[in-house]
Amino acid sequence: MKVLVATEKPFAKKAVDGIRAIFDKAGYQTVLLEKYTDKAQLLEAVADVDAMIIRSDKVTAEVIAAARNLKIVVRAGAGYDNVDLAAASAKGVVVMNTPGQNSNAVAELALAMMIFMSRNRFTPGTGSEIQGKTLAIHAYGNVGKLVGRKGKALGMNVIAYDPFITDAAVFEKDGVEKVDSVEDLYSRADFLSLHIPATLQTVKSIGYDLMMSMPKGATLVNTARKEVIDEEGVMRAMTEREDLKYITDIAPEAAADMAEKFGKRFFATPKKMGAETAEANINAGLAAASQIVDYFVNGNVKFQVNK
Ligand code: 3PG
Repeated sequence: MKVLVATEKPFAKKAVDGIRAIFDKAGYQTVLLEKYTDKAQLLEAVADVDAMIIRSDKVTAEVIAAARNLKIVVRAGAGYDNVDLAAASAKGVVVMNTPGQNSNAVAELALAMMIFMSRNRFTPGTGSEIQGKTLAIHAYGNVGKLVGRKGKALGMNVIAYDPFITDAAVFEKDGVEKVDSVEDLYSRADFLSLHIPATLQTVKSIGYDLMMSMPKGATLVNTARKEVIDEEGVMRAMTEREDLKYITDIAPEAAADMAEKFGKRFFATPKKMGAETAEANINAGLAAASQIVDYFVNGNVKFQVNK
């Protein structure tokens, strides 16, 4: 078996070593394609591999067509909006993710972003504290739950909404208040932490109305996907309301415009860094490698996302 680790944004060395060790033990060959700058490099590298580990790397229909022996793609991470699932399914390629493996890194970044914005982005001037503020969590999955628990530990009043969780006990056991509508959530949010995936239903779903409903001085914190934001709507709200703030992990399309218009009320990381910790790389990378071996050896499809 030949496995390609294709990471435009490389894993920490320890994670790569761990992945290699898992494949060596299984008798598989590991091929590493890191920091590639051109799609052609990926198309060439996939030509004869049986499996792939990726991060946010784009596995399009073209990539899948070029990968003649491909049987499985594992996205070392949570969101798999970068993989053309229909094209994979059409060719019988199994797609998996590694849910939960990098969640803590993303949750820590979300909290850090709240403090960073509350302290004027670490520039001089009087800031405010996050203790006692309402932290509203949009989608209570692996990351949302961790953000909630950490927010509680920091003395925040935590509320959450998840359209797919009706059981209030899921929230109550974390001391988190379940909110029944997205409108209610945003209208109470001093900090709104976004944890929805990018899907047909969610793309551009966060915009003017929700932003305008937020309390005075509120901050939208996006460690999910830039695609879920209706950038025009958010910009219109921030233009009309000079108290609103937006911080995002990965620059929006309108980043330059937003930076110029909103100054310290806006911040974007230059490259997505939510899962950029050695721990997250090791957790997700090793899980991905183990899942590939488990699939080939035992047919385990527990984490398949294109069933
Ligand atoms: C994820 O969906 O797991 C995160 O967005 C991490 O993405 P990355 O592997 O590109 O850092």
